[in-house]
Amino acid sequence: MKHNSRHSSRHIDHATVQRILEAADIVDVVSDFVHLRKTGGNNYKGLCPFHNDRTPSFSVSKSKNLCKCFSCGKGGSPVTFIMEHEQMSYNEALRYLAKKYNIEIVEREMTDKEREEESERESMLAINDFALTHFEQNLTETQDGRDIGLSYFRERGLSDAIIKKFRLGYSLDQSDALHKAATGQGYNDKYLFGTGLCGKSENGRIYDRYKGRVIFPIFGTSGRPIAFGGRTLSSRKDIAKYVNSPESIIYHKSNVLYGLYQAKHAIGQQDKCILVEGYMDVISMFQSGIENVVASSGTSLTEGQIRLIHRFTSNITVIYDGDEAGIKASLRGIDMLLAEGMNIKVLLLPDGEDPDSFARSHTAEELAEYIKQNETDFIRFKTKILLNGAENDPQKRAEAIKDIMQSVAKIPDEITRHVYVQECSTLLNVTEQKLMSHMEAARTKYNEEKANERRKERARESIRDIENEPATSELDQSATQAKQPEQVATTSESDKQLAAYAAFMKTYECEVVRYVVKYGVMDFCDEIDENGQQHPIKVIDYVLRELNIDNISFVNPVYQRILKEAYALRQKNWADDIDKHNEILIQQRQKAIADGIEEIRRTAHDLSSITAKEQALIERVDKEYYESITEFNCQYIAKFMMYSPDDQVRNLATDMCIEKHELSRVHTKYAKIETELDRLTELVPRAITELKDAIIGCEIKGIQQEISDLSMQPNADIQHIMDLMARQTQLNEIRKQLAKAIGDRIITPRK
Ligand code: GTP
Ligand code: MN
Repeated sequence: MKHNSRHSSRHIDHATVQRILEAADIVDVVSDFVHLRKTGGNNYKGLCPFHNDRTPSFSVSKSKNLCKCFSCGKGGSPVTFIMEHEQMSYNEALRYLAKKYNIEIVEREMTDKEREEESERESMLAINDFALTHFEQNLTETQDGRDIGLSYFRERGLSDAIIKKFRLGYSLDQSDALHKAATGQGYNDKYLFGTGLCGKSENGRIYDRYKGRVIFPIFGTSGRPIAFGGRTLSSRKDIAKYVNSPESIIYHKSNVLYGLYQAKHAIGQQDKCILVEGYMDVISMFQSGIENVVASSGTSLTEGQIRLIHRFTSNITVIYDGDEAGIKASLRGIDMLLAEGMNIKVLLLPDGEDPDSFARSHTAEELAEYIKQNETDFIRFKTKILLNGAENDPQKRAEAIKDIMQSVAKIPDEITRHVYVQECSTLLNVTEQKLMSHMEAARTKYNEEKANERRKERARESIRDIENEPATSELDQSATQAKQPEQVATTSESDKQLAAYAAFMKTYECEVVRYVVKYGVMDFCDEIDENGQQHPIKVIDYVLRELNIDNISFVNPVYQRILKEAYALRQKNWADDIDKHNEILIQQRQKAIADGIEEIRRTAHDLSSITAKEQALIERVDKEYYESITEFNCQYIAKFMMYSPDDQVRNLATDMCIEKHELSRVHTKYAKIETELDRLTELVPRAITELKDAIIGCEIKGIQQEISDLSMQPNADIQHIMDLMARQTQLNEIRKQLAKAIGDRIITPRK
């Protein structure tokens, strides 16, 4: 078989991943895309590839194996850099790096069924690869291809460059040209039928599916042809304009967007995606300079396609060219985009134009300007469409209002929802309160549905957790007893409060997590037990214990997950790893001292100088020894997390490790700059205190609110108010004790 490169997204075995991560050198990886200049030490600089950079703001640290743009903030490990720059998934990036460093990818043992599917998938992709080249060659290397196919594309205004870019082709107008060519090369009938490239008629005759059509290949995100669309060149009404590949194990129509492979770079760079309807629309817009454009190819937008877009951006503009009825029918589908938290805009083209015709009759600047001027916010757009013609029909108006509020209710962000309610109030001429109650009702219903789904998902997860990781049960337990603000009556109320609470707690939780990720393994203070024995405590143990004592768990899920991963790491091979590493360092230290002493004794001229020299030697070696221990410890947790398969965990950990002062930190022989590391004894307990203080502060506020609410009521329960006041006093007292109590537990700072 010709093409046997493997592109499966699963099964890279763990050891291979480790090998890739060890091999990938950030300077090397970035240099493939950015011209880097050495700025001293182990640091490099260049123009940032992620934004329009005039002065080099992209820093690369070889020793930390990290990169970061101090202007736009993008960057990270070699893997995250490739993911971002090439718009690849985590697995794709690993495969990219494996290829770069000639690391053979060992895939974990597959089951027989997986193996069979894998080879079947591979065979189908290989045959599509063959067909793609065949169609492409027809277009330029055969007389018919040039006269019919190529001249058609040129008539429609496509340049040779764009034809190449989208790899357009032509299927000869002969019954089995492709079939003959493919079987001549040894390709199997089974896969020619499986991919739908060929078919068999009732009387057993084999035919090419796209006979006489121009070909639009459809690529998966990693660039392999997974399907084809073939457009007829005849204007006969009795034949289908387009014939497409059937569904198969390599082509799931609902998870594919036409043009995404060519557009993904521009989508990422502009943080925006434009959605159109047809193949030609994509290609024409791309040719005219709008490259962040994809099509849902005939089908209405699916959830899978939205997820696909959301991997690259949250901003989407949908271009409509249909009539009003068509637009109305498609509005519902866009609610899905809202629910995913996408920012959606809608653009109507002038009557009779589609993106293809419009792009061809305008310059790139005009096109961009038209989009900028005319794209309207989706909710506003929907409101206008639904109100059109319903002005004097109360029934229709009421339905429209309900419908619009149902859309608004799906927006995850509270502030955005409220802004829309306010705006729609003007547009619909209905009071804000009325709309609000419609919206809240719709949201409660929607939340209940979602909560149900989540509950099921959580149940499944906890079963998985219990089966796989009994070690983390301690944390799980505290998670279920998470402190939350007082529960309030309706779901949407408590939902809102919880979101606000989480947002408020974010800074405090982030700070604590940051110390765990950056310095978790460090011994940072000594503790004296009841028997007067001193024990060194690691940052992570201190933090976990402090949180457990008060049953605190983080309300922001990503921080909770980081903590959980750190805890799992702590439970596993951590001690062994560190012991092993320390063993090596101790041996190195002993050897350095022994060698040094021998050298001193051999070269010494008088006895008195020996002692002084030996002293200096030991001091120097010890300093190096402590520095390498620190270096190793500091990177230990961060290193693991930076390669977590959990996108959010990985990104946050990476960000935490590349804060500005880290990369630009100056080491000089003369001035000792006090670092965070030197002040952990003070900083970590402070972060914990502030976290606890924030939690208590929130609880106190809640109680105050409740007291003031209750005292407004004529026949309030006095006893209840008294109880609340007592609790408030108690909390205030705890708050006062907090700082002191934490201070007491720390006995001696370590050097
Ligand atoms: P042109 O007519 O060449 O401009 O093509 P277009 O890509 O602009 O197509 P059009 O606007 O007619 O339709 C939009 C999309 O719907 C196309 O890109 C196809 O994916 C799909 N489509 C249109 N007609 C057919 C058809 O007859 N069969 C199938 N399967 N899909 C079709
Ligand atoms: Mn068209």
